[in-house]
Amino acid sequence: MIPEKATAPTPIDLDEIRRQAWNAPCPAPLDAAQRQALRERIKRLLEARNAVLVAHYYVDEELQSLADETGGCVSDSLEMARFGHAHPAETIVVAGVRFMGETAKILNPEKRVLMPTLEAECSLDLSCPADAFSAFCDQHPDRTVVVYANTSAAVKARADWTVTSSIAVKVAEHLHRQGKKILWAPDRYLGAYVQEVTGADMLMWQGSCIVHDEFRADALKQLKAEHPEAAVLVHPESPPDVIALADVVGSTTQIIQAAQTLPNDTFIVATDRGIFYKMKAAAPGKTFIEAPTGGLAASCGSCAHCPWMNMNGLANLAAALEHDGPEHEIHVDPTIGREARKSIKRMLDFAESLRLQATGEANVASPA
Ligand code: 13P
Ligand code: SF4
Repeated sequence: MIPEKATAPTPIDLDEIRRQAWNAPCPAPLDAAQRQALRERIKRLLEARNAVLVAHYYVDEELQSLADETGGCVSDSLEMARFGHAHPAETIVVAGVRFMGETAKILNPEKRVLMPTLEAECSLDLSCPADAFSAFCDQHPDRTVVVYANTSAAVKARADWTVTSSIAVKVAEHLHRQGKKILWAPDRYLGAYVQEVTGADMLMWQGSCIVHDEFRADALKQLKAEHPEAAVLVHPESPPDVIALADVVGSTTQIIQAAQTLPNDTFIVATDRGIFYKMKAAAPGKTFIEAPTGGLAASCGSCAHCPWMNMNGLANLAAALEHDGPEHEIHVDPTIGREARKSIKRMLDFAESLRLQATGEANVASPA
């Protein structure tokens, strides 16, 4: 059966989203002494405030190394949510983009959640306004609503499931096996990839990540020809013709694991360049090459780096811990938070059931 095709009911102005990305302010450059002083201050503040630092792979490597050194975590968005939820700290400091901070708050309403800046957007979140999305869902009551974690709390509250890229295929397979039809939002490329792999019936919202949208298949083909020994690792937010050239398609963590486990010594990587810090540590001695981009949306205009992830720096991280004012603290409306929590918890419980099945620890029934 040919699945229904749909365009988002509200036209998405990607050029406007790109303009917002270009205007995202970069942290001021710091010299070595300033960086060292800020690192020390942040370490003291984390301890004094019983706080834990949770960072995404795409943020500045200074922040990633600080998270590692202070007992926090550096990971993909699924593990960030899981780690923050399981950690006993009273305050969670999230270095990433706003939906990641909101997810932490939704899962831990009793904790304080701080971010270096609340202005770190995500183009997928921006391309899925809650009211228009809710109306779209109302038009398709027969479908199970599955949304990517890169969305606002209100969009998650409207969903049956929240998923991240590391678990999207498994959730779609699970729903498809039960004969359920899916309404998917907001990333059309990740959605198309999941649909292709699982054969599930998926009706797509038409959002996209302006950073991954920049990877170019023609230039990648040429680069592959110059490096025939290289394996190509691609994040599924990339365009389908780029995904088609991949040896491995996966979330940020899955891409790092592929660099560790594949026998290749060279990798061409189509995702945000922030990932190279952990990738090089995980697979020392291997060579990593950035996949070519059109250069329209990145923080430096020519490389793949999310301009909003780039807003996180040592100075605003220290300020968040020092002042924790309204410009740093995440708040989520409690009613929206309670609803959104159901769809996120469903994913976390499902992930746990998969983990237990894989390790043979228990025969746990998957959530409906
Ligand atoms: P991951 O869930 O793979 O970390 O992806 C999050 C993201 O924003 C990628 O652009
Ligand atoms: Fe959003 Fe893309 Fe940035 Fe990830 S890289 S946070 S999907 S804009």
